[in-house]
Amino acid sequence: MSTTQGALRAKRYESFSAWRTAVSKGREKRVLFVPTMGALHPGHAALVEAARRFADGEKEGACEVVVSIFINPTQFDDAADFGAYPSSPDADVELVSLAGADAVVFPRLQEMYPDGVPPHVDRADFGSLTSVLEGAERPGHFDGVVAVVRNLFQWVKPSAAFFGEKDWQQLAVVRRLVDLEFPGIDIHPVPTVREPDGLAMSSRNRRLCEEDRALSPLFAQWLRRVAAGDSAEWGQLCADGEGALKARGFEIEYLTVRNAGTLEEGPLVRGGMRVFGAVRKGGVRLIDNVACTF
Ligand code: PAJ
Repeated sequence: MSTTQGALRAKRYESFSAWRTAVSKGREKRVLFVPTMGALHPGHAALVEAARRFADGEKEGACEVVVSIFINPTQFDDAADFGAYPSSPDADVELVSLAGADAVVFPRLQEMYPDGVPPHVDRADFGSLTSVLEGAERPGHFDGVVAVVRNLFQWVKPSAAFFGEKDWQQLAVVRRLVDLEFPGIDIHPVPTVREPDGLAMSSRNRRLCEEDRALSPLFAQWLRRVAAGDSAEWGQLCADGEGALKARGFEIEYLTVRNAGTLEEGPLVRGGMRVFGAVRKGGVRLIDNVACTF
């Protein structure tokens, strides 16, 4: 929270055009941007706080911290998941205000997709980044993420944007998008914020029933156990983890060690490997990743 601005409410805009009109009346500032889908929690707040700290380190008034809240329909491969995605706009405005945002924008669907459904990403541009792990489990997911992030960046024209390591693959895809199309934007990664029991915070966690919520820390525990293992043990540890989680009623989509940059099994690089996992419990999908100590 900014010491000077934390008590102030972020200005709320119901469209990008309303935000742009307000901005063009004022002095142009560099935008530090935090894109989200709402139902915000302390993990999102950490991104806004990181942006605020950055702004406070610059010349006073030079930067504006802008949060967008848009449940992007094109990145959901599952209509039920989209329909059940939680929404809490008033609480979200409160949370980002306390975390130090200056503005929060709720883009309109028409602003994001004036030409309807976006095209698929070009495999030649993204390679395996969009096709493995989440890309394999959720066909079309990264087509939607790339389309919406591209459109958000085109509206906002940020100088920096903040993304969570919780969605490591998304971070890798966004970095690639920026290399290809937005060389002026600095991407700032923010470490994963967890519940005290280790569960990575996620908007979807609020859909876990009490019993599943109590079991869910097992997922992060197994990620940590694999991450602490020697490379020769990873295969066995992943198999053990899958078995143990299945025995407690988790469905496993993947539990695997990958190169943090390529997201493929190799090359094996000391200090550059991560464990990635995706599971379902009671119909709620959980994803997480942890750096290997190797
Ligand atoms: P959403 O899931 O709302 O997440 C918004 C940002 O918050 C992402 O950068 C995500 O990685 C980060 N985040 C979520 N949980 C976190 C946690 N526990 N710790 C740290 N960061 C966390 O990711 C999306 O929305 C969308 O795909 C989006 C990029 C907005 C495009 O629609």
